[in-house]
Amino acid sequence: MAARIASLALFASLAAAPVLADDPRWRDCRTCHAVTAPDGSVVARGGRSAPNLYGIAGRALAADPDFRFYSDDLRAAAASGARWSQENFVAYMTDPDQFLRSVTGNPDAESGMHVELRSGAREVYEFLRGLSD
Ligand code: HEC
Repeated sequence: MAARIASLALFASLAAAPVLADDPRWRDCRTCHAVTAPDGSVVARGGRSAPNLYGIAGRALAADPDFRFYSDDLRAAAASGARWSQENFVAYMTDPDQFLRSVTGNPDAESGMHVELRSGAREVYEFLRGLSD
């Protein structure tokens, strides 16, 4: 039984590999972000200077318990109860500061992420959703 579980896990990790290779936009994220499952297995390798994006689809804002450097403004936005829907994700990726300003109502809100994705945010969201199923 243990061997069977191990081989299923191996199959799952092999199955994820081609998806990774297929999404060139992840290269814009992995410098800072990784995707790591709750059991510690790395679904998509990446940096540690930004929150883990595992399960980001539908997750509450600023909800990686191991990331200690969330900005005050992303935390303030999280206090509104907002979640990472596809719509919120696309708005955030297109203009992080503007997204935080509209969610918090604070015209001076600033994101701790200085990255903007002018196109393809929807595809990245679907890609990340697929990695966390
Ligand atoms: C230069 C480093 C860097 C890069 C590159 C980067 N991010 Fe980020 N990202 C951050 C940081 C830092 C935060 C935390 C921001 C804050 O606290 O305001 C963050 C936050 C996020 C969040 C919110 C996480 C949460 O827990 O609420 C999402 C979603 C996100 N990034 C997606 C992406 C995607 C998708 C890409 C690639 C297109 C990307 N990021 C590229 C540094 C980066």
